[in-house]
Amino acid sequence: MMKPPTPTSYLLLAPLAVLLVVFVLPSLRSPPRVGSDGLGVLCSRRAGFPDVVAVAPSVEASPPTQPEPEFSLLVGVLTMPSRRERRDIVRMAYALQPPASRARVDVRFVFCNVTDPVDAALLALEIRRHGDVVVLNCAENMNDGKTYAYLSSVPRLFASRPYDYVMKTDDDTYLRVAELADELRGKPRDDVYLGYGYAMGGQPMPFMHGMGYVVSWDVASWVAGADEILARNDTLGPEDLMVGKWLNLAGRGRNRYDLKPRMYDLNWDMDNFRPDTVAVHMLKDNYRWAAAFRYFNVTAGIEPSDLYHQLP
Ligand SMILES: *[C@@H]1O[C@H](CO)[C@@H](O)[C@H](O)[C@H]1NC(C)=O
Ligand SMILES: *[C@@H]1O[C@H](CO)[C@@H](O)[C@H](O)[C@H]1NC(C)=O
Ligand SMILES: *[C@@H]1O[C@H](CO)[C@@H](O)[C@H](O)[C@H]1NC(C)=O
Repeated sequence: MMKPPTPTSYLLLAPLAVLLVVFVLPSLRSPPRVGSDGLGVLCSRRAGFPDVVAVAPSVEASPPTQPEPEFSLLVGVLTMPSRRERRDIVRMAYALQPPASRARVDVRFVFCNVTDPVDAALLALEIRRHGDVVVLNCAENMNDGKTYAYLSSVPRLFASRPYDYVMKTDDDTYLRVAELADELRGKPRDDVYLGYGYAMGGQPMPFMHGMGYVVSWDVASWVAGADEILARNDTLGPEDLMVGKWLNLAGRGRNRYDLKPRMYDLNWDMDNFRPDTVAVHMLKDNYRWAAAFRYFNVTAGIEPSDLYHQLP
């Protein structure tokens, strides 16, 4: 169904503002290399970290000097088409991280069906530019089966090049990929369920908090074939709790790891950042993202220049 013209024309303004920020501000602040590389400064290849975010869907051979990855991890950031500004921030957050050593890590933004024609057009540009998008066959929602759609689709979508681990996270989580990879390195590759364990009913971690959790490939493959989940309507409800329920009832994900306190919610005063953070959640606005980037020294790497003398 088409939307009436008035909201559509209004909708056009927001992406325009984002484009202004993306295209105009960097060209005001940065040296002339931006002219030749364009948006390349925002993508991982320019930053030299091809392991973190693949900019093209095609697979590239690692340079010969790189050791073989010991394992692979797919990070799915569940978000919505309209959240373009946040996605731009999160994409940069991943692209500017140090690469995980000896791990193949791909970050993908995960959507359900894109119904709005403006969203569809702008998302098409993101796909062309970044190639890091997955659109699932589901209706956009948070607690109405999107996680099920994600976990159950991944084994088929990536069947030709499976991952050892599949992660679900959100666009208000700052995930430090190298730290997570170091946690995963020594873990089993099978029957794994790892995250921020949520203690409940006398159980230490009946489920992992939705800020971000990892299951091994075999667990995702089991989800894809588990008709019992659908038969019980267990795709509906708080997604993190439901994933725990599926696995508990089936005796899956028995290799459980709780990454508290290295995964946590940022508090109101934003004074509980930790240097050994794996993931910090509740980055609900730009103010909180800015605090995270300052704390983790992401803002500190720029070369001094008269062109942006006022920046830290
Ligand atoms: C998503 O879109 C596809 C293609 O247009 C359609 O066949 C499918 O029914 C849609 N799914 C949902 C859940 O809306
Ligand atoms: C699942 O949901 C459908 C539709 O709401 C309902 O008809 C069915 O009875 C439910 N099944 C169970 C097992 O609750
Ligand atoms: C950021 O840099 C400062 C100064 O070099 C250092 O003391 C601090 O530990 C760094 N913070 C993190 C989270 O690495």
